[in-house]
Amino acid sequence: MNGRLMPAAEATVSVFDHGLLYGDGVFEGIRFYHRRAFRLQAHLARLTLSARALALSLPWDQAALTRAVAETITAAPDDAGYLRLVVTRGVGALGIDPRSCRQPNLFIIADRLDAMAEARRRGARLIIAATRRLGADGLDPRIKSLNYLNPILARLEANRAGADEAVMLNAAGRVTEGSADNLFIVQGGRLLTPPASDGALAGITRAVVLELAATLGIAACEQPLTPYDLYTADECFLTGTAAELVPVADIDGRPLSHCPGPLFSRLDQAFRALIERECRNKPPAVTGEAE
Ligand SMILES: Cc1ncc(COP(=O)(O)O)c(C=O)c1O
Repeated sequence: MNGRLMPAAEATVSVFDHGLLYGDGVFEGIRFYHRRAFRLQAHLARLTLSARALALSLPWDQAALTRAVAETITAAPDDAGYLRLVVTRGVGALGIDPRSCRQPNLFIIADRLDAMAEARRRGARLIIAATRRLGADGLDPRIKSLNYLNPILARLEANRAGADEAVMLNAAGRVTEGSADNLFIVQGGRLLTPPASDGALAGITRAVVLELAATLGIAACEQPLTPYDLYTADECFLTGTAAELVPVADIDGRPLSHCPGPLFSRLDQAFRALIERECRNKPPAVTGEAE
């Protein structure tokens, strides 16, 4: 918490913090394996961009953040887990004006997280939510801000329907992403995912999957998608730091032809192998180290 290691129960923020009052802040969810953060520099780069989009100046530079993440991982109880790196606007007056907030708060939580474990085993059940993803002209979904109400509304719909995840469409009816993960389909041997500009977070796991597809010789591209494309896909899967790779079993009650499908299985295997290569027997990330 602002540079000090402490037990979770002692890590508190003020009720006047605008992160709490208004969702004014940014965050990253980062996994670590074998006590090394996976794709840390990509997460820190995205955090920096999210903060810049909100005119929020990060209290620390990339090197200091990298050291803080490494220290947190060293102190974590398990060799593998999930980190939540949060920067809030900080304490200010009541009223939304960020100018009253003098000093951002920064904290990193180390925890376990495997919310999608069961869905990963049996295949996730999705619905297409009635709640539309906010457009870039309102709150750009590429900003990973502390305000998650838009996807939370979609997740409530999924919960009510007994589904694992909700797919959100944009105002034009194009597929964007899940409430907390990106989405891929396989159509005729090609891997397709909506462009981030349609209203999705530029996911780090999504980028890794596109990278793996290239190395495996799987044709992949960003392409606008509609519900019809999802319903008629050969395969569909979700990607995210928390979710990792999760095959989809059905969407709005329409079963996918394959779950897990052959391309999913190849990519998932390659993903696991990549994690081992990048994280096993490596020192915790240190300043400036390339990934
Ligand atoms: C809305 C949303 N989309 C996609 C993702 C997946 O992104 P990443 O793979 O970087 O975790 C997340 C999770 O971070 C998310 O919250």
